[in-house]
Amino acid sequence: MKSVVILVSGRGSNMEAIVKACAAEAWPARIAAVVSNRPSAEGLTFAQEHGIATAVVDHQAFESREAFDAELQRTIDGYAPDLLVLAGFMRILTPGFTAHYAGRMLNIHPSLLPAFTGLHTHRRALEAGCKLAGATVHFVTAELDHGAIVAQAVVPVLPGDDEASLSARILKLEHRMYPSAVRWFVEGQLAIDAGGVVRHTGGESQAFFS
Ligand code: GAR
Repeated sequence: MKSVVILVSGRGSNMEAIVKACAAEAWPARIAAVVSNRPSAEGLTFAQEHGIATAVVDHQAFESREAFDAELQRTIDGYAPDLLVLAGFMRILTPGFTAHYAGRMLNIHPSLLPAFTGLHTHRRALEAGCKLAGATVHFVTAELDHGAIVAQAVVPVLPGDDEASLSARILKLEHRMYPSAVRWFVEGQLAIDAGGVVRHTGGESQAFFS
């Protein structure tokens, strides 16, 4: 049984999708804890209502990223995770933290990486005139939104789209893709080798379409 810790900063809808899929599909895993850097994160309520341990490490209480990450790591490691899942966790992580979880930390980013790293991805895709947009699940490395790609979800950009409509279309696919990627990992079908190459042996497609 693999232990999974999920980090959230807000709504937590991807975390919800993972928690529900884990139970519904009887993964060989348990969601050991949901941890947030924001005490008011809505996702904490869902986790508590589902009997999942929660913890808050409020970044505002720390004077440096290093001090925050050290306490975050201490809290996470209390749950001995095999996998750390960033699900709308909106903090830049220090190299020491990313090295500690190398090969066992996934993130979901709402763009077709390597395009549009960072913030405001949907607005920037619309402004660039993109006809396709999407989201990416990747292993986390020290460089923001640059780790090896595990899966991608693609949607059309439709005439009249705004940030709200485009992000909603992408989020629906995120809720299919991210649980799949986490399941691959806990079932031993997904790993990253020493050269940074993703090995996926499950046979399912790593591309998701609306
Ligand atoms: C998701 O769209 C996720 O891709 C994005 O934040 C949203 C969180 O929603 N992540 C990032 O922007 C990370 N840089 P959720 O809290 O409802 O899962």
